[in-house]
Amino acid sequence: MKLSLFIPLVAQAALWRTEPASWTTVNDDVMGGKSKGSVMMYDGALWFWGKLSPENRGGFSSCRRSVGASDSAHSSYAGMNGVKFTAKAEQGTNGPRTFRVNVSVKNSWNWLMTKTFMVEFQPTQDWKNYSFGFEEFTYTWMAKPSNKYQLADFLAEINEEAFFLYDKNFDDNFLLTVKDFELY
Ligand SMILES: *[C@@H]1O[C@H](CO)[C@@H](O)[C@H](O)[C@H]1NC(C)=O
Ligand SMILES: *[C@@H]1O[C@H](CO)[C@@H](O)[C@H](O)[C@H]1NC(C)=O
Repeated sequence: MKLSLFIPLVAQAALWRTEPASWTTVNDDVMGGKSKGSVMMYDGALWFWGKLSPENRGGFSSCRRSVGASDSAHSSYAGMNGVKFTAKAEQGTNGPRTFRVNVSVKNSWNWLMTKTFMVEFQPTQDWKNYSFGFEEFTYTWMAKPSNKYQLADFLAEINEEAFFLYDKNFDDNFLLTVKDFELY
């Protein structure tokens, strides 16, 4: 009796272990904005959808997960050369949406010390492979790109990876689907 209950739990635990740390959304509501974003893993892919809103000087949505924790997909960026993934997205009425891949050094004591490096891409309606070398990422502070820091110097400290949408399209719902997000 006990066994029959126990086995599915063990199987579930094994499944959970093979599933990398989950993605969570952070939208501009942390700052009083009204953008919407949701994320889930389904059918082996990440689905990230919602709608941006300009209200209260917001306008962004993001989904993120940790790097380097025991349950993360990636233990460390150190020694790697870049990220690659396969993605597609719903197109906006006026063309493709511009998403960003963000990789960050988050400082839990002081958010002002967070360093984010980003690269932009415009997914099409059809699956496409993307690969970005770390040298293609730009350090960005308060939405301003600069060459103050290079991602290559912070690989061992990266502790978060994210998809970020901030393209000022407030009319269309967005939907990004990503498979096989990997380091190479
Ligand atoms: C992406 O790359 C993989 C492996 O190289 C390949 O099998 C797949 O067909 C490619 N997908 C697309 C949409 O180009
Ligand atoms: C992504 O990068 C932008 C700067 O380009 C930053 O403002 C934003 O907080 C970052 N978002 C995430 C989820 O890392």
